[in-house]
Amino acid sequence: MRIAINTGGGDAPGLNAAIRAATLSAISRGWEVYGLKNGYGSLFTDKPFIPLTADRVKGITMQGGTILGAANRGNPFEMPYQKADGSWAAEDRSDEVVRMLKKKKIKAVVAIGGDGSMYIANQLVKKGVHVVGVPKTIDNDIFGCDITLGFDTAVTTATEAIDKVTTTAEAHQRIMVVEVMGRYAGWIGLHAGLSASADIVLIPELPFSIDVIVDKVRQIEKSGKKHVIVVVAEGATEEGGKRFVRGKKIGQAELLGGVGEYLEKELAKRTGKESRSLVLGHLQRGGSPTTYDRLISLRFGAAAIRSLENGDFNKLVVMRDNRIQRVPISEVAGKIKTVPADSDTVLTALDVGISFGNGDA
Ligand code: F6P
Repeated sequence: MRIAINTGGGDAPGLNAAIRAATLSAISRGWEVYGLKNGYGSLFTDKPFIPLTADRVKGITMQGGTILGAANRGNPFEMPYQKADGSWAAEDRSDEVVRMLKKKKIKAVVAIGGDGSMYIANQLVKKGVHVVGVPKTIDNDIFGCDITLGFDTAVTTATEAIDKVTTTAEAHQRIMVVEVMGRYAGWIGLHAGLSASADIVLIPELPFSIDVIVDKVRQIEKSGKKHVIVVVAEGATEEGGKRFVRGKKIGQAELLGGVGEYLEKELAKRTGKESRSLVLGHLQRGGSPTTYDRLISLRFGAAAIRSLENGDFNKLVVMRDNRIQRVPISEVAGKIKTVPADSDTVLTALDVGISFGNGDA
């Protein structure tokens, strides 16, 4: 049996651990393993396949990034290309991908990716490609699973950054607004904000009101505390307002960002307090995975191979109720998992006095 491993979308800490476990599990069964260089787009290039051997995956568990390379414009159903006049358009090249995989005698693809990758995987399944998915994204927003690989490291990085910014906020008696990633879900903001004892946490699931945030700032000041920590997820919006979008390219998801700077200016104006904002950005995707991320990544990678061995194709291996399980890719494709407003993490945040800027302060 010959299989391929693809790391789709943005990188996340833990990808290499998943690649290593999948590769070694497959080799121990006598299979051959190839990695797709920089995603499906590589299949239109000269040397798309990277042979994965035990030697090639040695010592990579603790490495961030992906030894295969990643591409967030690698959707074969919407492949960007530049037209003669310099403008960009997209075309469906999925049939070529299917042909190339067949030509190379690849029996199945281990697709390590986020919601976008699972959508692509589901489309490839419909074209007859056998796929097993591994849930990867720092955003933790893949439908059907409790946790994705990369999330724990991102939250740890964000928490440590907020801790550091807090000492400066305290020294200067400022409002510090920390913008975190997470796309349309507030998992990183909520988990890091709560863990780092932020005063205000703003997430896409609970649109905020500037009036409510200003009231909370005044309340904090009245209590004698002179600094305020606001953690805002990049996808958070004002009640009735639009998302802060920095741009959108063909074949790529929209780029979010800007809400932190908006809040810095509004809060300075409305409260008279000195305010600063900080965008954590790609720091959250980088670095060595935490022990937890290493472990789930290794477990996901090995579980994907067991699924293939059982002939259980077109499934996503997930962590659910602390157990690795398999769910049909078709059940999760095209959906995202957001923070439930009544989740115990939200309730805990409220109980310890965090405001979501939405009337609860
Ligand atoms: O999905 C992971 C993620 O890091 C999001 O949190 C963020 O919105 C996006 O990717 C950033 O994408 P890029 O790496 O293309 O800037």
